[in-house]
Amino acid sequence: MCGIVGIIGTAPVAGKIVESLKRLEYRGYDSAGIATLENGRLTRVRASGKLKNLEEKLATTPLSGAIGIGHTRWATHGRPTENNAHPHANDRVAVVHNGIIENFRELRAELTAKGHVFSSETDSEAVAHLVADALRTGATPEKAVAAALKRLKGAFALVFLFEGENDLLIGARRGSPLAVGRSDEGAYLGSDALALAPFATSIAYLDEGDWVTLTREGARFHDASDALVERRFQPLTAGSFLVDKGNYRHFMAKEIHEQPEVVGRTLAHYLDLAEGVVRLPFELTFDPRTLSRVTISACGTAYYAGLVARYWLERFAGLSVEIDIASEFRYREAPLPENGLTILVSQSGETADTLAALRYAREQGQHILSIVNVETSTIARESDTVAQTLAGPEIGVASTKAFTCQLAVFACLALALGRARGVLGKERERELVAELVAAPGQMAQALAHEAQIEPVARDVARASSVLYLGRGPAFPLALEGALKLKELSYIHAEGYAAGELKHGPIALIDFAMPVIVLAPPDASLEKTVSNLQEVAARGGHLILIGSPCARDAAAAELAGFIEMPESVAGPFAVIVYAVPAQLLAYHVATFMGKDVDQPRNLAKSVTVE
Ligand code: F6R
Repeated sequence: MCGIVGIIGTAPVAGKIVESLKRLEYRGYDSAGIATLENGRLTRVRASGKLKNLEEKLATTPLSGAIGIGHTRWATHGRPTENNAHPHANDRVAVVHNGIIENFRELRAELTAKGHVFSSETDSEAVAHLVADALRTGATPEKAVAAALKRLKGAFALVFLFEGENDLLIGARRGSPLAVGRSDEGAYLGSDALALAPFATSIAYLDEGDWVTLTREGARFHDASDALVERRFQPLTAGSFLVDKGNYRHFMAKEIHEQPEVVGRTLAHYLDLAEGVVRLPFELTFDPRTLSRVTISACGTAYYAGLVARYWLERFAGLSVEIDIASEFRYREAPLPENGLTILVSQSGETADTLAALRYAREQGQHILSIVNVETSTIARESDTVAQTLAGPEIGVASTKAFTCQLAVFACLALALGRARGVLGKERERELVAELVAAPGQMAQALAHEAQIEPVARDVARASSVLYLGRGPAFPLALEGALKLKELSYIHAEGYAAGELKHGPIALIDFAMPVIVLAPPDASLEKTVSNLQEVAARGGHLILIGSPCARDAAAAELAGFIEMPESVAGPFAVIVYAVPAQLLAYHVATFMGKDVDQPRNLAKSVTVE
């Protein structure tokens, strides 16, 4: 979404900051800026457009400070003007920010009433004023930042530089990544290892909710409760930053935890956040008003993303949707209607069956749109329109972050088609977009409750078979939850539509087989709860993933409860509920000592039939 960097050096740092920003340009490049301290005073140079514009400005207006922060922007709130470029600053503090501050409107109103003057349209400026407000009351920079972080909602990474503090940067991470680097010449903060690679010799990562005070002497890490914690520095070797696990034991854990960041980044790519509406980053090659039908085809997890999307496309865009597994669809010889749209979904963009489905649809004269993670892939190249998921490289063989990013793209597409077809009114669109924008922050909340999943995972690890149930969009999530569990732990698992239970699988219910019910608070909750009670009445081993309200409504004895915030509700709740489903499979598998990153028999990109 945006790239951020901070450097404490022994000589002017602006050149090094520019070098780091060049390595972060892939995250955004519509404006850039640097702030340093010159004789203890904050000075800034910012420019709209690519980084070279900033470099040109710095050539005529050099910055001499030996401590500074920098930013390269991918606009979310506010146009990509110089005024909206980071760092945002006042007479006390400058800040660079990656992510979205969801409650910036409330903060802005509160701080404006206290006399703070805002000079940009961004959500980020509110953070600078919030910290300045605490500094004015005499708080130390550490106390001011700690207090400000508690007021912020959303997913973000931040780096602060303070007037008069020649040896202090403070960084914070919630939902968006932040790395700390060290060398004999200085101390560094950056969005990723790549940014710090030219200067740092060792690197550590902030865990979710951490904040860090950085000086020339070293780094002091604090967790979300402000307690001092240790984070391990590892040597930064040439290749390590390319496929790097960060603080995590497995790529899969890292990728699960990256979701607030990458889903936020993907949403920001498809939304106009300032207006609160959808804005697709490509032209459609068809007229949505005359579209006869949508056909979706994909494999595995990507297919389940399509199954979820069917609910949204039907409901919000009034489109009839046909969906099939690519390996079946390609051989069905299905007649496809004139003026139909075929959507192919693929993380790798190389899956042989999905590619064959694409070619079949093309022969049938369909408009071809693909949702892919690898922009240069074959499926992308052969499509009329490419909707990219900005999940970044997915190394773990089991798909996690690519899935939730596919859901994010589908949600935006459904709303955009709904608007274009006159099915979705502006107000409803805004409401739904607001729900989507809340998702990355809610995912971060769900991740923060990981500890409650471990005892449930230990229980599930004893089972030889597991049933997942869900209704509406949570039904495909039940399929995905079951797939994740079986591919990682090798425990047999099946997903069912909760309403189908009594048509057969209910015969399996006994005290030994965990039945995992995914019950987000949506229109079908009451019905899901009835199905849950059918399991309870037969002495079933029930595990609920739901809100406290769902637990109370269930009024049944539960063998396990994974609590989700009540606020995670509505048609897009499924995006957030994917997190506990993934974490559960991950913890069952690690508890059983399985190789979660490379489960047996699987491959990341299936280029054979
Ligand atoms: C499961 C998983 C697979 C893939 C499937 C399609 O965790 O990763 O089911 O989703 O092989 O792969 P792509 O999305 O690359 O087409």
